[in-house]
Amino acid sequence: MPMCLSPSRTRRNECRLFFALCAFVILTASGSGQIYLPQPPPKQPSDYGKVILDNHASPVNPGPVVFDHWLHRSKFTCRLCHVDIGFAMQANASEIRASTNRQGFHCGACHDGKRLFEGRPIFASCSDDIKGKECNRCHSPDKHGSRQYDYKAVTARLPKGIYGVDWQAAEAEGKIKPVDFLEGISVKRAPIKTQPDFSIQAGLQWVHPIVFSHEKHSLWNGCELCHPEIFPTDRKEGVRFSMLLNIRGRYCGACHGKVAFPLNNCSGCHPPGPDWAP
Ligand code: HEC
Ligand code: HEC
Ligand code: HEC
Ligand code: HEC
Ligand code: HEC
Ligand code: HEC
Repeated sequence: MPMCLSPSRTRRNECRLFFALCAFVILTASGSGQIYLPQPPPKQPSDYGKVILDNHASPVNPGPVVFDHWLHRSKFTCRLCHVDIGFAMQANASEIRASTNRQGFHCGACHDGKRLFEGRPIFASCSDDIKGKECNRCHSPDKHGSRQYDYKAVTARLPKGIYGVDWQAAEAEGKIKPVDFLEGISVKRAPIKTQPDFSIQAGLQWVHPIVFSHEKHSLWNGCELCHPEIFPTDRKEGVRFSMLLNIRGRYCGACHGKVAFPLNNCSGCHPPGPDWAP
């Protein structure tokens, strides 16, 4: 790189720019076979999929709210919450308020003190009357001991994968039976006809095609969670899959890396692949 040692500052800058560009291309371009690596998920699987809800709660008592996917997804399908109840697929985007909860929307669709789950009423969400109420079970990011459900205890009997619970196996073995219907909120539908599985061909020869299971995904997600927002059903619109877009939270990365198994679990999607990238 004699150019980079050139006494001319412009020459040196040009040279740096050239190598920076090369690095950029190597890191991002799929054609080179190199990619960005996804961020590792949190050390504790109990923190994976945790959403801190804090659009309005911080300045007032009782403070921010914790929502854990691991607990709720062991009981309900993604579709029930994200389609029937209508929660956004993005943290703090649903405009949840104490008042909407009280009116029976958002968390209040279940947490109303009356709806039964496994024979017991689900504890109520926000009300004006704090006495004797269980505000801290939700408004509890830093309040130790205010929660009744503990990740280790709840997941002890569930099969584990390379990172935390293997939800696919837990469901297949019948250890969890996520509920897909909420009286008064969901509409009765004819059973959905699943679409055939298909393989996603890589642009690179050495990357094996990925088998995508419509059937397995529809079980959790219905159809509406993916179509048409994440994936158009018209192939002509052309989804151009790439690992970089996944890492940026598009396509598969809309769920994998946030709530479904993380993108670092390469072999989860790429059949004979490395097991765990840093
Ligand atoms: C009990 C209801 C419930 C269930 C079940 C549920 N979610 Fe969520 N999900 C939420 C709520 C609430 C949020 C936060 C929305 C907001 O803040 O506006 C959320 C947020 C998300 C986000 C965005 C996270 C982020 O950090 O930006 C993703 C992705 C997501 N959910 C995927 C899933 C998937 C996949 C499943 C099924 C495996 C699932 N959810 C099951 C209620 C649920
Ligand atoms: C589809 C129904 C449903 C929705 C919607 C829902 N939850 Fe839950 N949630 C449950 C059930 C069922 C439990 C277990 C309740 C019990 O044992 O009383 C639970 C438990 C919890 C717990 C555990 C408390 C503890 O003591 O460990 C927290 C925290 C919680 N929910 C927060 C939320 C928040 C925040 C929202 C809204 C963003 C929400 N939930 C929306 C059904 C739901
Ligand atoms: C099931 C979970 C849950 C429980 C239990 C709960 N809340 Fe909330 N609360 C929420 C969520 C979610 C928000 C919205 C957080 C945000 O984005 O700022 C919220 C927001 C609030 C706010 C912020 C003001 C506003 O307009 O949104 C207040 C005040 C509040 N809750 C009071 C209470 C009180 C008092 C209790 C106990 C009687 C309680 N909450 C119990 C989930 C809960
Ligand atoms: C949630 C599924 C999923 C996971 C997990 C995953 N990938 Fe991918 N990957 C894809 C999809 C979809 C494509 C695009 C189609 C294709 O090339 O096969 C892709 C493409 C690629 C490509 C080809 C270049 C490109 O951008 O199209 C490489 C290289 C790659 N992935 C490496 C990895 C590595 C390394 C890991 C682990 C750190 C990983 N992938 C984890 C789904 C995944
Ligand atoms: C987890 C996400 C996901 C879920 C859930 C899902 N799909 Fe798909 N679907 C895809 C992807 C990815 C493609 C391919 C898009 C492409 O390559 O352009 C696709 C393609 C399709 C196509 C076009 C097929 C073709 O060959 O052109 C149809 C039709 C379709 N899906 C219907 C459904 C129906 C019906 C359901 C519910 C039973 C469903 N999908 C559930 C992700 C999903
Ligand atoms: C709407 C959310 C969502 C999207 C988008 C999504 N997945 Fe998944 N996927 C899930 C959930 C939920 C599971 C269940 C396992 C878990 O949560 O770890 C799953 C499981 C899987 C599995 C294991 C199931 C099996 O077939 O054995 C594979 C492989 C997979 N996804 C690949 C992909 C690929 C490739 C894409 C993109 C083309 C994708 N997923 C897009 C939510 C999603």
